[in-house]
Amino acid sequence: MTKVNDNYLKLPGSYLFSTIAKKVAAYGEANPDKKDNIIRLGIGDVTRPLTPTIITAMHKAVDEMADEATFRGYAPDLGYEFLRKAIADNDYKKRGCDIEADEIFVSDGAKCDSGNIQEIFARDNKIAVCDPVYPVYVDTNVMAGRTGTYDPDKETWSDVIYMPCTSENGFAPEIPSGEVPDLIYLCFPNNPTGATITKDALQKWVDYANEHKSVIIYDAAYEAYISEDNVPHTIYECAGARTCAIELRSFSKNAGFTGVRLGFTVIPKDLEVEGTKLHSLWARRHGTKYNGAPYIIQRAGEAVYSAAGQEEIRGLVGYYMKNAAYILNGLKDAGFEVSGGVNAPYIWLKAPNNMSSWEFFDYLLSEVQIVGTPGSGFGPSGETYFRLTAFGSYENTVKAVDRMKQL
Ligand code: MLT
Repeated sequence: MTKVNDNYLKLPGSYLFSTIAKKVAAYGEANPDKKDNIIRLGIGDVTRPLTPTIITAMHKAVDEMADEATFRGYAPDLGYEFLRKAIADNDYKKRGCDIEADEIFVSDGAKCDSGNIQEIFARDNKIAVCDPVYPVYVDTNVMAGRTGTYDPDKETWSDVIYMPCTSENGFAPEIPSGEVPDLIYLCFPNNPTGATITKDALQKWVDYANEHKSVIIYDAAYEAYISEDNVPHTIYECAGARTCAIELRSFSKNAGFTGVRLGFTVIPKDLEVEGTKLHSLWARRHGTKYNGAPYIIQRAGEAVYSAAGQEEIRGLVGYYMKNAAYILNGLKDAGFEVSGGVNAPYIWLKAPNNMSSWEFFDYLLSEVQIVGTPGSGFGPSGETYFRLTAFGSYENTVKAVDRMKQL
């Protein structure tokens, strides 16, 4: 008799952003007169179109696919050399980090990579996550049967080490003082809080991981939003990271590829667990389960690193950061407790009047037709918090803040 993977049955509810989309759709149906008034600042999905240099590169690549002489079939498993080299040179070597092109694995995005990476680790590894956290890290470990049992009251898993990120610690996780985790998920600039840590603080994590033989899975999808000095752009700025850290990166947030799909994972060849190179395991997995990101998209990714591409990307990031500043300052003026939004496109705010995260979600939707993300959806320490994204249009962002000021 067939059996399902019953780990899936342990997952409470649906994926956070699916739940929100369903709730918003139901509200629109029940309130047709207000449907067109809804402003979506929930999921971190971009709204600006792809920039001219990227579009030109894609058109050229499409034309190549129409010509027998330049047509391409399957991409190399690990990504085209032209893109892997552009990434190594621009994202790493230019920052003084020792990462080679053949340590980069091109993929269709950081969401998939952050969900899939756990497959190369044994089931009995103990994971540590920030609380609140991007739900993909936890949910995919649940699917793999690594998280124990769920406590619906506490909204926690028995076999997960939670590292609370609260206003008291500046939304920065503290290094576990008790049980040592095997896999440590870190994301900076952080989704959902928008917080960052300094290079010195990240160095302490790297030292801890090397000392305890833990592996850090470092999600740097929001790196392009860093505006302050002394905030590391990559974990490989820290000494010793090559022997303990995997880094995940995305083209979604910097270059607007959420609908195009492109990302990459870095696994240094020095990173070994029990004498096995994680690079080899991930290469084996990639080769078996994945046929590579499309040629047209990888050419688009290469164009991101051209001088014109970089200039355009700075424009995109600047556009969204203007939104972030508008939300941050506007809500501060209106008396909200707010943070984030300086090195990240997310603003993290406390729900007023002791409302729970979901109560505030419903209140904002029904009163002023604004959609955000309830903090509790990211973990128990997110309860009573709320996330707004700066990825909307400037006009909608201004409207949303002005409406919230009126509450
Ligand atoms: C988010 O809203 O947290 C992001 O859109 C998640 C993602 O990039 O998958």
